[in-house]
Amino acid sequence: SSVETGVYEHFMLKEIDEQPAVIRNIITQYQNDQGQLNIGQHLQGLKIPSRVYIVACGTSYHAGLVGKRLLEQIAHIPTEVHIASEFLYDQPLIEGDPLFIFISQSGETADSRGVLDQIKKQGFRTLTVTNVQGSTLYREADYKLLTHAGPEIAVASTKAYTAQIAVVALLSIYLAEQKGIAGSIDMFQELRTISTAMDTLKDMKDKAKHIVDEYLTDQRSCFFIGRLLDYAVCLEGALKLKEISYIQAEGYAGGELKHGPIALIEDGTPVFVLITDERIAKNIRSNAEEVVSRGAKTCVIAAEGLHEEGDQWVLPRVHPLLTPLVSVIPMQLISYYAALQRGCDVDKPRNLAKSVTVE
Ligand code: G6P
Repeated sequence: SSVETGVYEHFMLKEIDEQPAVIRNIITQYQNDQGQLNIGQHLQGLKIPSRVYIVACGTSYHAGLVGKRLLEQIAHIPTEVHIASEFLYDQPLIEGDPLFIFISQSGETADSRGVLDQIKKQGFRTLTVTNVQGSTLYREADYKLLTHAGPEIAVASTKAYTAQIAVVALLSIYLAEQKGIAGSIDMFQELRTISTAMDTLKDMKDKAKHIVDEYLTDQRSCFFIGRLLDYAVCLEGALKLKEISYIQAEGYAGGELKHGPIALIEDGTPVFVLITDERIAKNIRSNAEEVVSRGAKTCVIAAEGLHEEGDQWVLPRVHPLLTPLVSVIPMQLISYYAALQRGCDVDKPRNLAKSVTVE
């Protein structure tokens, strides 16, 4: 391939930095000359599903957790998210006229392919959201949407995740329009705001490095806590960190800490606290206090307006359904610099493959 790191030491950092451009590219790809959503040209004949099943693995599964909220809140379609390798052997009861959405950067993941085969045999409709045109999941689905993120080389997925969420957001708007319930969200405008916010975040590398030095030096484990959408992003933040820095990291729903994991908090345990949702800002703050009183060292990443003095990172404010697109970036950067600090092979972490084509 002709893809090179250029001035970057690693593909991962290059790909983190590409995210604002990827979002702008997605806008261009799915907008016509009149500025209207033209995603429907890829969805000809698609009837409104009674329910959506999102099936994916790894980071794409985490994008699916966000996609569920978008489809439910914007298009009012009940949506379930499933890990492909689980679904394969434990298919839920399926009723009505559902749509199966496969999210996959590579379009080649064996577990997801297995579910696609299984589902097609049962006669259900399928849609693949992928970064690779012509990939197996692309070819074999009834409908296909490309994420237009450009080749992703680093094993740890970054720009593919944000691109997947942006495309599912546009799909949600399309389905809402088809149902005649399109609300007041100007999604292209919101995505432009996101790309600007991403620009400012990706330039916060010194901040990320400093946080790594202060919180993660010599640490073997840490937590990411959040609620609602922030919880979904915490799962991705923890996955990113463990993948490339080998620090054991757990993403946890803030309200669940008291039901177990709080037992693991010791003096100095790093806990990243994500706060982007007004409705639960107070609750997650009190979850943070609970761990601090057991000795944890919290690093608070909060949206502007919800932040308090002493928070470590203030995120630009964006549409409440799209916060993962900005809140994931500090986590990507922190993971990157943690791996770098430890001398890990950032782009090719041990035991992992970019695309897992065997079950
Ligand atoms: C591998 C990669 C992950 C990725 C997952 C799913 O485990 O290392 O980064 O999220 O596969 O891949 P897909 O191509 O289906 O998104």
